[in-house]
Amino acid sequence: MTAYEFLKPLTFPKKGITAKNRITIPPMTEQMAFHDGTVTQDELHYYSLHTGGVGMYITAVANVNDLGKGFEGELSIAHDEDIPGLTRLANAIKQNGTLAIIQIFSAGRMTNSHVLRGHQPVSASAVAAPRAGYETPQALSGAAVEQTVEDFGAAVRRAILAGFDGVELHGANTYLLQQFFSPHSNRRTDEWGGSLENRMRFPVAVVDKAAETIARYADKPFLLGYRLSPEEVETPGITLNDTLALVETLVERPLDYLHVSQNNAWGTPLRDHSDHTIINQAIKRQLGGRLPMIVVGGIKTPAEAEKAAENFDFVALGHESLIEPNWVEKVEADNEDAIRYAVALSDLTELGIQPPFWQMILNVSGGPAGVPVVGETTNDAQSSGE
Ligand SMILES: Cc1cc2nc3c(=O)[nH]c(=O)nc-3n(C[C@H](O)[C@H](O)[C@H](O)COP(=O)(O)O)c2cc1C
Repeated sequence: MTAYEFLKPLTFPKKGITAKNRITIPPMTEQMAFHDGTVTQDELHYYSLHTGGVGMYITAVANVNDLGKGFEGELSIAHDEDIPGLTRLANAIKQNGTLAIIQIFSAGRMTNSHVLRGHQPVSASAVAAPRAGYETPQALSGAAVEQTVEDFGAAVRRAILAGFDGVELHGANTYLLQQFFSPHSNRRTDEWGGSLENRMRFPVAVVDKAAETIARYADKPFLLGYRLSPEEVETPGITLNDTLALVETLVERPLDYLHVSQNNAWGTPLRDHSDHTIINQAIKRQLGGRLPMIVVGGIKTPAEAEKAAENFDFVALGHESLIEPNWVEKVEADNEDAIRYAVALSDLTELGIQPPFWQMILNVSGGPAGVPVVGETTNDAQSSGE
């Protein structure tokens, strides 16, 4: 077996929990939960097929309250009634020592009144997302912001009771935590908005509430991660400098890792094309070794994973892990030639990928061109998702 860095175990220093290797599956919404967010057999089957090789598996995002639901088929962690299904999900993932982390969020303004069964979406301020078709949300009152912080805490308690090894707070991809941090979506004039420090107040309050809940309810070490997106393209919008300030604040909080959400792990600033700074390296410099860091984006081959592992702590494989559930096992068995880098539509059932999930993969990937499909035309690929 090649002595890859990414196959070596890594221990989260604050909790003493060890991931058996440094390959992670990042959160990927699979649209397979029931209409009320409870876990389905299809979901359990999908997770059990893809787990076991990687060191850590982060689930699809789960909403912490009902108004936080972003998509149909999304997992819910908003009610105690969700716990039995979530327990089965944690157990399905925890095979062969893989750590099971559940990602939690509120979608904020990135949803609609159809998904919310007639309710208006909520956000930091009444500003619609600058994308076609998005509704203007209702600004949360101060009391509702505080209740949302409590809802995150209650969700963390449910994750502990369900037997997960940790939670990841979804502060990325334009959802509510990011909406509070962003000067685009947060135009508040109270203590939750305005200055950079005030825009960090909600993310920090959620981190602190999560940590407090872990201290109170977990009877064994339990990880707390935070995922962020480094920039927004809008003006006003989050800049890399804003993010470095957020990182500096987060690193002082009781977190166990930082997860940087990007489509290219070696990406440079989107806002300033003359700036060739590698965003992940800038964030790593800011962290200064004080927190482990997960990078993601376009990593598929063992060579690409090794380059990332030589520079960062954990390496996440998104699209590639959908297509190749035995990636780690094939590397460990010196069988790299057998790693699959494209999917045949006839393999989707074997991979546990149901049609709505396939459609989601196509949508998230910018259409059929973003997903390597072999053996059939992209039109066939699209229609199979219906
Ligand atoms: C189908 C699909 C669903 C996703 N759902 C989530 C999600 O629930 N939460 C999240 O933070 N990111 C989500 N992502 C983003 C991935 O975690 C990852 O950052 C992205 O796919 C880039 O990594 P890759 O190039 O290795 O695929 C999703 C991506 C895909 C393809």
